[in-house]
Amino acid sequence: MTKKSTNTLWHHATITRADREALHKHKSVIIWFTGLSGSGKSTLAHAVEEYLHKVGISTIVLDGDNVRHGLCGDLDFSDSDRIENIRRVSELAKLMIEAGVITLAAFISPFKADRDDARKRVPHGDFLEIYCQCPIETCEQRDVKGLYKKARAGKIPFFTGIGSPYETPGMPELVVNTHELTLEESVKKVLNLLMQRGVIKDIVC
Ligand SMILES: Nc1ncnc2c1ncn2[C@@H]1O[C@H](COP(=O)(O)OP(=O)(O)O)[C@@H](O)[C@H]1O
Ligand SMILES: [Mg+2]
Repeated sequence: MTKKSTNTLWHHATITRADREALHKHKSVIIWFTGLSGSGKSTLAHAVEEYLHKVGISTIVLDGDNVRHGLCGDLDFSDSDRIENIRRVSELAKLMIEAGVITLAAFISPFKADRDDARKRVPHGDFLEIYCQCPIETCEQRDVKGLYKKARAGKIPFFTGIGSPYETPGMPELVVNTHELTLEESVKKVLNLLMQRGVIKDIVC
């Protein structure tokens, strides 16, 4: 992004992220779910949020489809707009962890460079990349939103996995194979990661 805003000066907050985390009584972190459409990002992000919410943890889910109704509604699915989409939502996720909230981001985010850029925006360790791994055949069978059918019929030109590439994560913090695991097992894997990283203390389920 070329910065066009001039004559702006950063105003330093007197209340810091650490103060907000102390108020919430837990650390904040970005949990970034990536994977093909239908691989389980939204389902898993919301199920993890449900668990965290129940045990008194402040959360927010940023969902690919939802932000395209508002914040990113002016963007299409060309490569350049996909890059801008991830830039905006990663800046939003950064603001959310500043607010002391555990931020679950569910975005196809097909390009490795964009995910790496999102990771670089926040301090080391604050970005946990979770690869929702699922064969395209299974995603296509699930076809939760009927989009694969449309894409195969040529009605969606740049659909990830068909007319547009998906770059597999090289070193994600976690791989969740939603093809083989149940939703509960997948949730537990994510919660275990949060426990290992000291974000939550223990799991009660
Ligand atoms: N282990 C699992 N984790 C998440 N979703 C799963 C799992 N197993 C099966 N599913 C199903 O896969 C589908 C994933 O859809 P969705 O979450 O909308 O995908 P995405 O957000 O990645 O496009 C849902 O119908 C969900 O019930
Ligand atoms: Mg989704």
